[in-house]
Amino acid sequence: MAVDLLLGLQWGDEGKGKIVDVLTQNYDIIARFQGGPNAGHTLEFDGIKHVLHTIPSGIFHKGAINIVGNGVVIDPVIFQKELDNLEKFNLDIPSILLISRKAHLILPTHRLLDAASEASKGKAKIGSTLKGIGPTYMDKTGRNGMRIGDLEFSDWKEKYRNLADKHEAMINFYDVDIQYDLKELEEDFFKAVETLKKLTFIDSEEYLFNAQREGKKILAEGAQGSLLDIDFGTYPFVTSSNTTAAGACTGLGVAPNKIGDVKGIFKAYTTRVGSGPFPTELFDEDGAIMAKVGNEFGATTGRARRCGWLDLVALKYAVQINGVTELMMMKGDVLSGFKTLKVCTAYEYKGKTITHFPYNIEEESVTPIYSEMDGWAEDLTKMSSSDQLPETLNKYIDFLEKELEVPIKIVSVGPDRTQTIYR
Ligand code: IMP
Repeated sequence: MAVDLLLGLQWGDEGKGKIVDVLTQNYDIIARFQGGPNAGHTLEFDGIKHVLHTIPSGIFHKGAINIVGNGVVIDPVIFQKELDNLEKFNLDIPSILLISRKAHLILPTHRLLDAASEASKGKAKIGSTLKGIGPTYMDKTGRNGMRIGDLEFSDWKEKYRNLADKHEAMINFYDVDIQYDLKELEEDFFKAVETLKKLTFIDSEEYLFNAQREGKKILAEGAQGSLLDIDFGTYPFVTSSNTTAAGACTGLGVAPNKIGDVKGIFKAYTTRVGSGPFPTELFDEDGAIMAKVGNEFGATTGRARRCGWLDLVALKYAVQINGVTELMMMKGDVLSGFKTLKVCTAYEYKGKTITHFPYNIEEESVTPIYSEMDGWAEDLTKMSSSDQLPETLNKYIDFLEKELEVPIKIVSVGPDRTQTIYR
């Protein structure tokens, strides 16, 4: 049985949580493969909004097993808060939420290092969520990290101390003013680790291998977006993991020839949170409308997201890198009321018109070239089937499908599970 992937194709916040939640009924296992609590996956049903950071978005579906894969980085303190929020649902967490022994731990000092590193960068800061993601992946690739499996050995606190001491020396090296009380942070951390230890740790690659053999249907849930990928994103304004399809192979131990459908999610427009280049960004009333109607505030940090027109050059690049087989367009409803819609179909780059994503998309080297299309006035949020969609929206969709050469299978018209149109 193949493993299907679900990935964000822009700079994150495309609505992966909602779609995983909608699709979960078709799957036995939902597995997160990268990122950590920098993610904020929002799910809405029965009038309630839920935000998950590390826990996969299949957690509310009866019968689904949720796996936190080896490629994920886990902050026990945030994890514990997530578990606390789930308490009222009476879920049997140890049997439906399994954690890879090979996943790395975010220590309190990783978070402090993140803060020190960002503070030292001044204007060049990445705009990190400050959840300790970069320093934790640095320790992973630097072969210094602590893994979930270490918690099963009696010397884990010694390992912890050695690493935390090293981090403190590094924080001092940055020579920035970071106020912290490590003792207090450690108290919370050690308490949260004890909660974590009550959960089920597994060799997730083996588990998933056997599950595939048994014909179980598996969905790998991406976090962040392709343009934040450490290799293919807008470096250095990226996150520290491979958010693209290949990351699912390394982040779960799934062989490339076992990947099935690659479901790519994008918003009908573009957003970005944090620093970094964004060619189609709007600084006018149109951008403000997108932000307001789309409620574009980060689920993890509450920061306002930057908004702009759809960038097909970037989207085509993401479709290629991931081998996307089907698309899902989110937040079509937010564009209702715009008389004219713009879609960036090429860049002017060093005096030439290009349609590929170049090395550098900084403002001074790239000018977006737009196609204009008629908008639609209808409120989409109550629509439930594709034959209700306005003609001009269908034209917008047809145009995107032709450009991207991949079918758009789902059009989302609101945050709730039910506001989902299949095509
Ligand atoms: P970090 O991964 O927290 O270090 O953040 C690096 C960059 O990725 C920053 O610009 C963040 O705003 C962005 N980022 C990280 N996680 C997410 C996410 O889940 N959605 C959107 N942007 C994110």
